[in-house]
Amino acid sequence: MHATDKRGCPISRTSDSALEGFEQALSLFNGYFADPLARIDAVLAKSPDMPMALALKGGLFLCSTEAGANGPLGEVIAAGEALSGRMNGRERGHFAALAAWHRGDFAGAGDHYARVLADHPRDLLALQVAHQADFFQGRSVLLRDRPASVLRAWDGSVPGFGYVLGMHAFGLEEMGEFGRAEEQGRRALSHCRADAWAVHAVAHVMEMQGRRDEGAEFLEEREQDWAPDNMLAYHNWWHLALHHLDVGAFDRVLAIYDAGIRPSASTVALELVDASAMLWRLWLRGADVSARFEAVADAWETFADDAWYAFNDVHAMMAFVATDRAASQARVLASLHRAMQGGGTNAMMAREVGLPVARALLAFASGRYAEAAAALAAVHPVAHLFGGSHAQRDIIHLTALDAAIRAGDGGLARALAGQRLAQKPHSPFNRAAFARAAAIPAIAA
Ligand SMILES: [Fe+2]
Repeated sequence: MHATDKRGCPISRTSDSALEGFEQALSLFNGYFADPLARIDAVLAKSPDMPMALALKGGLFLCSTEAGANGPLGEVIAAGEALSGRMNGRERGHFAALAAWHRGDFAGAGDHYARVLADHPRDLLALQVAHQADFFQGRSVLLRDRPASVLRAWDGSVPGFGYVLGMHAFGLEEMGEFGRAEEQGRRALSHCRADAWAVHAVAHVMEMQGRRDEGAEFLEEREQDWAPDNMLAYHNWWHLALHHLDVGAFDRVLAIYDAGIRPSASTVALELVDASAMLWRLWLRGADVSARFEAVADAWETFADDAWYAFNDVHAMMAFVATDRAASQARVLASLHRAMQGGGTNAMMAREVGLPVARALLAFASGRYAEAAAALAAVHPVAHLFGGSHAQRDIIHLTALDAAIRAGDGGLARALAGQRLAQKPHSPFNRAAFARAAAIPAIAA
């Protein structure tokens, strides 16, 4: 019988084997290695009354961003309620966070995890699930400050220290502190070379700084660390493809897409987001991705009515626009309207970003480029409100620029291309875009 886990956090009494199984499942989740759900299910099969095992399982469902995960998450919460009389305060905090997420209060979930972490700064599960929740809400400040708030309770002797550094690295990157982010990310990798989130944090630094060749080399030479059997591999492949896309190497991008970003007919929303986002970038640039987009649009069909997470809805809309699926486009719009009527964090996401962007994508597809450009340029400063990273949300800026060029609006196109060049002056794509914008003749006053 135990009173604490490996990091000294209080845990309700359980068997040695259940605690060991919990630690193994947590380790898998920490590195995004497959398959923590199978591991924790095996623990729960023998020890169904272990609150932290249920909390871990619930956290995995939270991290899916899918409305479809709410059913099983609700079952986890119900199982937890039946045990609440024998939970400690830390465990009750986990279930309060899960319940908040389940009712659509994404921000509230983060607040409950913050309370847990204030009392138990070595609660690695609370930190990681909350970090993902912060990511899904585009909360850059918390991406940095939540890991920062616990760092002093950790050192190299505590199991999982490197993962805390990796999370801090990503938060620093999202706050634009690129030097410290890279340093912290590389420190994390010195603890665990296969830490896919730390790899990802360093990849983001290189993406944001336009270190194209170095970024590609960093990911390619470490592929055996982050790619095999890793649930985040599709996303690190996406980052690698971005570097090749910048130089217009479409064949290489498509090869990475087929082998890494979408190697199977997955219906995982997080994976579909990256598939849509990469195909949309290629589609804007005239590459033939129609067959691939049809397959991705097919997979998005089951999410079109969810009204759960506007970030996903917008990426579904990209696929429905590129494949000219009018009925599916209308379903997404209706879903976003429904979300706005509901409570919860997604009402704000749909109102501030989801619906304006979805409408702008439709305007783009209808050839109303000036309307699309203006709407997307207006959303750009608040786009973080619907979640994701700077690199992901860049698709809004990119599409605004493309729309401005197609609309023949040289002034807006130069302004947008100029913003991109100020961030990444050596990007071949940005240079070419600015040249195209500069070549647009002035409209006679
Ligand atoms: Fe990323």
